[in-house]
Amino acid sequence: MSSPSTRILTARPQDISTAADTLRSGQLVAFPTETVYGLGADARQNDAVEAIYAAKGRPSFNPLIAHIHSAEAAQKYVVWCDAASKLAEAFWPGPLTLVLPLREDHGISPLVTAGLNTLGIRVPAHPAARALLSALNGPVAAPSANPSGKISPTTAAHVVAGLNGRIAAIVDDGPCGVGVESTIVGLATDTPLLLRPGGLASEEIEVVLGHTLKQRDASDPLTAPGQLMSHYAPQAGVRLNVTNPKKAELYLGFGAMECDLNLSVSGDLQEAAAKLFGHLHKLDTKAYPIAVAPIPEIGLGVAINDRLRRAAAPR
Ligand code: TXA
Ligand code: MG
Repeated sequence: MSSPSTRILTARPQDISTAADTLRSGQLVAFPTETVYGLGADARQNDAVEAIYAAKGRPSFNPLIAHIHSAEAAQKYVVWCDAASKLAEAFWPGPLTLVLPLREDHGISPLVTAGLNTLGIRVPAHPAARALLSALNGPVAAPSANPSGKISPTTAAHVVAGLNGRIAAIVDDGPCGVGVESTIVGLATDTPLLLRPGGLASEEIEVVLGHTLKQRDASDPLTAPGQLMSHYAPQAGVRLNVTNPKKAELYLGFGAMECDLNLSVSGDLQEAAAKLFGHLHKLDTKAYPIAVAPIPEIGLGVAINDRLRRAAAPR
């Protein structure tokens, strides 16, 4: 049996309005954010949110991020605090997710939070995402738009490759600029906690907070319910910190060197983050093992290495 096809929309106003109507009717729409493409559902509709988990094959204990148009609107759903004000002022709209206690009468489907009493919330910067959130005038639950455990999508073509026929529509507005998912900071406890390194360097967050971020305790399932070790997994194996690739390996380089694909010839971490998932998608189609050059563990390098370690983890 052939599956219904997924409609490809542009970011023009008429298509954004169609995308918002599609969300309102309880269907799924993938859309670009500055980090990666998200798989959106109206966060207030149980059936729509349930469809996200089904389309991705995502375990139901892994909560979703709610995308909101403005920091003011976010305060309808979560209990606000000083640190949230500082970080929102400095970095929203942008690649930062804050985890805060849910307010009473929040109206968000309990499937979004996987039953937790906190909500991950973010105001994206991408113009098409902002236009869609304005048109819907409500919260959009959106994980990355890839089948669970696979490489995250930074183009509409990546979304098509993973989810075609399983979702109603995709808003195609070109490649994502940042290229790795948002940085997640937990503000539901006394000390701000780095739950996931991402597209905003934690050094920048620490400057605004005026102190260092606490690192999450990897053995505590509650501090990062979805941080399963194997993730972003290409078909073939992945080896890290490789300076001498084997003959049979495809070599993913960083800095000036001989290799199959280079994340950044000039050694620029921002460029490397933007290219990371696209290069992994490309190398993955060849079904050879992948060897990756060392990447410095500073700035966006922390998020890049986190994603690469997950790609290399045993599964
Ligand atoms: O950049 C991004 O964050 C992208 C775009 C689409 O916004 N979204 C994204 O979603 O990466 P996803 O579902 O792939 O990753 C969300 C992460 C998961 O690891 C989940 O466990 C965590 O956020 N998370 C969500 N709500 C949480 C909560 N209340 N407490 C702790 N972690 C939470
Ligand atoms: Mg994801």
